Amino acid sequence: MKSIAVIGAGTMGNGIAHVFAQKGFIVHLIDTQAFALEKAIATIEKNIDRQITKGTITADSKSSTLSNITTYTEMALGIGNADLIIEVATENSEVKKSIFSKMDQLAKPGCILATNTSSISITELANVTQRPAQVIGMHFMNPVPVMKLVEIINSHYTDSKVTQAIVDLTKQLDKIPCVVHDFPGFIANRILMPMINEAIIALSEGVSDAATIDQIMKLGMAHPMGPLQLADYIGLDVCKNILEIMEAGFKNSKYAPAALLIQKVAEGKLGVKTGTGFYTY
Ligand SMILES: NC(=O)c1ccc[n+]([C@@H]2O[C@H](COP(=O)([O-])OP(=O)(O)OC[C@H]3O[C@@H](n4cnc5c(N)ncnc54)[C@H](O)[C@@H]3O)[C@@H](O)[C@H]2O)c1
Repeated sequence: MKSIAVIGAGTMGNGIAHVFAQKGFIVHLIDTQAFALEKAIATIEKNIDRQITKGTITADSKSSTLSNITTYTEMALGIGNADLIIEVATENSEVKKSIFSKMDQLAKPGCILATNTSSISITELANVTQRPAQVIGMHFMNPVPVMKLVEIINSHYTDSKVTQAIVDLTKQLDKIPCVVHDFPGFIANRILMPMINEAIIALSEGVSDAATIDQIMKLGMAHPMGPLQLADYIGLDVCKNILEIMEAGFKNSKYAPAALLIQKVAEGKLGVKTGTGFYTY
């Protein structure tokens, strides 16, 4: 694979474009919002500068990484000859189904269609395409340039050769693939989100304040970040969407988002990206 299209240039899309471009792939970064593309390129530049300061890369690789990325506001222009398209748009099943149907029409034969969804069924997305065996989940972690894990999710139809190609590609990015089956929330969020939700419930019951809850989980469980701070980094809207998808998928109210999480999202307090969540940034 040489050419990768990334659809959605938000928190995760810019990170995915960054790591592929840094490894020499030709990246077509697509978003319906021109400002999201501008912000994504600015973020990639800032993150490359941080890598240079840390000494993880050399300064001369900056221009080659940036020159590997081209941005587009039209999917039809950007998909071109992509060998792999990764959908990284908003966590909403209808939005993703509409993108998958369009991607399938525009992509060349043999192109693999992947999604970075945190919780939406890969099988349901595969069902809207004419190439279900070539649809797969490729779930990167935030922040993408730093985190090693990529959770690879097989739908009910994924061809084992496609899984192997994505496992090999993940290793080429210096990341570690872990292959799982298609169940709501897969593994990462099925275990993480109930913990975050419980921390929010404990906060709203007044068991302790946010900083103390996070400190207990950091010191007691050796987590690098407490659950409330992590929720702020993920985005409280993203957390709420994932919990709702798991609640509906398992038909089990134990996954219902906490009232305080629903309230924060309604108030537009989405965490780091809006400047306020459980903490102020
Ligand atoms: N934020 C996280 O920590 C995290 C971690 C792992 C996976 N994910 C998943 O990654 C995906 C993206 O999450 P995010 O946090 O980057 O979201 P985000 O809201 O930061 O970015 C989403 C981007 O998609 C764009 N978009 C929406 N509809 C589009 C369309 N039809 N065509 C092209 N672009 C479109 C939006 O303009 C926006 O720029 C979601 O599925 C999410 O569940 C998020």
